[in-house]
Amino acid sequence: MTTAAARRYLMCRPTHFAVTYRINPWMDPTAPYDNALAVSQWENLRQTFLDLGHTVDLIEPLPGLPDMVFAANGATVVGGKVLAVQFRDAERADEGPAYKAWFESAGFETVDSKHTNEGEGDILLAGDVLLAGTGFRTAHAAHAQVQEVFGRPVITLQLVDPAYYHLDTALCVLDERNVAYLPSAFSPGSQAVLRQLFPDAVIATPEDAEVLGLNAVSDGRTVVLPVQATALTAALQAAGYRTVGVDVSELRKAGGGPKCCTLEVRS
Ligand code: ARG
Repeated sequence: MTTAAARRYLMCRPTHFAVTYRINPWMDPTAPYDNALAVSQWENLRQTFLDLGHTVDLIEPLPGLPDMVFAANGATVVGGKVLAVQFRDAERADEGPAYKAWFESAGFETVDSKHTNEGEGDILLAGDVLLAGTGFRTAHAAHAQVQEVFGRPVITLQLVDPAYYHLDTALCVLDERNVAYLPSAFSPGSQAVLRQLFPDAVIATPEDAEVLGLNAVSDGRTVVLPVQATALTAALQAAGYRTVGVDVSELRKAGGGPKCCTLEVRS
């Protein structure tokens, strides 16, 4: 475990949150959802980050973009450099330019994505390397651009379970050296790569993953994760991490958890 540093996060209030289309197996447009509850759960997540000493910037939510709350998909930001995104689905396409514009007005250098690339949903910084998921959303071809833009080694990980369609639903970076993940969400070759890179990884149970427990946000010391992920919480504590449980069950109806709502802005 490394020392926790104060982080800077970008979030988007779920003012227009809704489940009106289905682009992942969690979404059921015929099922009820509660926008007011989604907003209060999200406010609690934001307050949790503030209480931990982190900075939270906010991007203006746009009407007609019900998934815009999932800020992790808005960009990948490493060393002050921003790789903009290109969504797979037309329903989310307009979020890409909105997030890019936010970074431009905040003074960041931005680069356009040449391929389907869903940002930190699939691209996670782990120490000196970037872990990059593919199989459902971010195209394999995008990984080469990620390596070129950030000048860091990119490790491709093949996702195989449609329920865990973004890398951040199947793997959480805990600190510079360690991760937690659900092995069955990855191809056999990718599981072997993960075992080699992270021999001491925290292995999640299927029950943890089913409540999107791995969609967690770590500052290196404290892991903010869904309160429903009880076995993972215990395993993280046994590995020496502090945990804070949050309930974002309403956002889970769109297939997102705490990490999906949180884009790390690394200067
Ligand atoms: N409904 C959104 C989608 O399917 C959820 C995005 C979750 N974001 C994430 N980083 N895993 O695109």
